Amino acid sequence: MDNRPIGVFDSGLGGLTTVRRLMQVLPNENVIYLGDTGRVPYGSRSKDTIIRYAMQDAAFLKQFDIKTLVVACGTVSTTALQQLRESSDIPIYGVVSATVRAAAAATKNGKIGAIGTMATIRSNAYKDMLEKIVPGVQYRGKACPLFVPLVENSRTEPGDIVIETVAAEYLEEFKSWGADTLILGCTHYPLLSRVIGNYMGSEVSLIDAGAATAEFVAEKLRQTDMLAQNTQKAEYRYYVTDSTEGFVNLASLFLKTHHLGTVEQVSLDNY
Ligand code: DGL
Repeated sequence: MDNRPIGVFDSGLGGLTTVRRLMQVLPNENVIYLGDTGRVPYGSRSKDTIIRYAMQDAAFLKQFDIKTLVVACGTVSTTALQQLRESSDIPIYGVVSATVRAAAAATKNGKIGAIGTMATIRSNAYKDMLEKIVPGVQYRGKACPLFVPLVENSRTEPGDIVIETVAAEYLEEFKSWGADTLILGCTHYPLLSRVIGNYMGSEVSLIDAGAATAEFVAEKLRQTDMLAQNTQKAEYRYYVTDSTEGFVNLASLFLKTHHLGTVEQVSLDNY
């Protein structure tokens, strides 16, 4: 048993899709979330910059005596996970393993697509792991750089011509290719599930990286006897690097709740 908090971070709000699932599957866990909203998006930046930002994010969260660190960001998970692990003595989980495992279980025809930020697709992390665990898999990946800013501006719902047009342009190749499974390899994208699902059709499985990761972390904590006591009343603390105002409005969209917990603006300059 371990009552210490779980640290979770993302470049912005996308990691809240992981927190939402953590709240459901681990209702007694304290969670401390960092969203680097002042520097989002990471996905279009160079590898060195992403590593530097990720190290600062992790250093900030480690001051809270967290028991584990969840990298709820596809970009950091595919670009900086190794560096984070090398400099840490607590377990660190990224989104790739959990997501690939869920995709492997879902596919029937072996045609698996992945969408993500430019950095994520450039890393080939999903491709490499899929090829290791799914015999004969066929893979296609595509960067969708317009999705994150659209999600951060609440352009997420079916009927919105802007997001529907952008989605159709990005996804057309997966549809004509016949993918039966599509990895939403960026934690912002589950907010677009309805738009993406409508376009791809109900026969295509969408794999939510945020949710899959939360379930994976729950399983690992259980296996290693690191769950919090089942009487603990969970507390949620959120830190952001831009103003809290914008965060509060959008966070309820991601978390699907208005009960946020505390939100504070911080600077990462000294980490
Ligand atoms: N949530 C981030 C991810 O999962 C995307 C946002 C960004 O580009 O920073 O990749």
